[in-house]
Amino acid sequence: MAYFLGLDLGTTAAKAVLIDAAGTVLGSAAGEYPLSSPRPLWAEQNPEDWWNAARNSFRGALQQAGIKPGQVEGIGLTGQMHGLVLLDKDGRALRPCIMWNDQRTAAQCEAITRRIGFERLLEITGNAALPGFTAPKILWMQENEPEIYQKTARILLPKDYIRYRLTGEFATDVSDASGTLLFDVQRRNWSGEMLSALDIPASRMPKVYESPEITGAVSEIAAKEAGLQPGIPVVGGGGDQAAGGVGTGTVLPGIVSVSLGTSGVVFSHTDQPAREPQGRLHGFCHAVPGAWHVMGVTLAAGGSLRWFREVFGEPEQALARQTGVDPYELLSAEAQQAPPGAEGLLYLPYLSGERTPYPDPLAKGVFLGMTLRHRKAHFVRAVLEGVAYSLKDCLEMLRSIGLEIRQVRVSGGGARSELWRQILADVFAAELATLNSTEGAPYGAALLAAVGAGAYPTVQEACRSCIKIVRRVEPAAERVKVYQDFYGIYRSLYQTLKDSFKAISGAVDKYSR
Ligand code: XUL
Repeated sequence: MAYFLGLDLGTTAAKAVLIDAAGTVLGSAAGEYPLSSPRPLWAEQNPEDWWNAARNSFRGALQQAGIKPGQVEGIGLTGQMHGLVLLDKDGRALRPCIMWNDQRTAAQCEAITRRIGFERLLEITGNAALPGFTAPKILWMQENEPEIYQKTARILLPKDYIRYRLTGEFATDVSDASGTLLFDVQRRNWSGEMLSALDIPASRMPKVYESPEITGAVSEIAAKEAGLQPGIPVVGGGGDQAAGGVGTGTVLPGIVSVSLGTSGVVFSHTDQPAREPQGRLHGFCHAVPGAWHVMGVTLAAGGSLRWFREVFGEPEQALARQTGVDPYELLSAEAQQAPPGAEGLLYLPYLSGERTPYPDPLAKGVFLGMTLRHRKAHFVRAVLEGVAYSLKDCLEMLRSIGLEIRQVRVSGGGARSELWRQILADVFAAELATLNSTEGAPYGAALLAAVGAGAYPTVQEACRSCIKIVRRVEPAAERVKVYQDFYGIYRSLYQTLKDSFKAISGAVDKYSR
């Protein structure tokens, strides 16, 4: 039997998953690393910490599965997208990685849009310039740390640093490269026009592969460090969203996946590069050769419920400590006590600003419609419903660019709540499917390795064999109607409040000096 490893270099931890050729998960292990924020809005990580966590995770997953390193026939890599890793001529990291959630580059985004022109930027890269993306970070380095930037020999994305440590190769895959804003998403290669406009030598960029293609093999030294066998092929892999798309079988037109992690992502496979005229959806190459994907992001999805638990959920947390029941389950049970629509209490989930449909870093969270009738149950329910409305905004935007939606698949930690799944089905007025595979991105990366090693002829075939629908949630007509009405009100609120959001930020800035 052949075995495959998938590694997800996440924002807080690296996780390795080991599967057999039938797609059964036999072992997994994770290792955490710190995130540092040396200044407000900055987010950085040390690539050496990633490598240490990655190699321990490989060992841990093999050990848990009781599989020998020599039995592994392929490794797939995935991870946090958009981060900037700079290496010197000896392959050493010149500074910590500037991460996807770092917000220091608003001015550089404006400069890029001015230099290229909004229309042209969208035409080449499929995206608008967002502070999280890689290109504005390179401009920031050119302007703010020129002495370090001058020493740069290689530019890599986070998961590709792990590839470099594993194989010695400088390579990436088309889906992760799409998040740099330097990539021609239609031609699936670096854009000469973007690189020269931003003064970035093409020689510094990694070689690009399709996601299941083999990019190199585990070296002797890496094998020793990570408990692997030298020579195991390492495939291109994918950005965490594209690999997650493979891990949920979102690899055919008409299938949409909704993942409820800290952020919520509505993700669709497309046969053609898709773009939203105002750049409010991200249009990237998919980890499926010859296909693309488009996605909308609600920044605080599960993050909204976590925030609520931290700020207002002490009683539930205390009870959870006593009884061993998950505090989220207790909150979910409480939300059941309030009726659909939470008797007019609405929640806007913009706790970290927003990406879709309002690319506005100054947007804020809101509870609106409180009366003396409202109890805690209404507030929890309003949070679950508000996140569902925001994800529906993403779904509607996919429809607005002409995508047909035949099936919605839901995954991620938030999807464990039966109530939240039902609310999503009712708010979307669509059937929701849940799957046998719950590992998402690292599972997708392992499947890509299986395709690269020849265990399956195509990514679609691997997904068809390994991923099964285990449950379906149907919408109920009477609740669909309630949610249609409240969604209409929800939709009008951002426009009404956006000037207030800006004014609040201005006042906070003024008094926090
Ligand atoms: C995708 C994105 C996140 C990060 C971190 O655009 O920003 O998915 O990759 O998970």
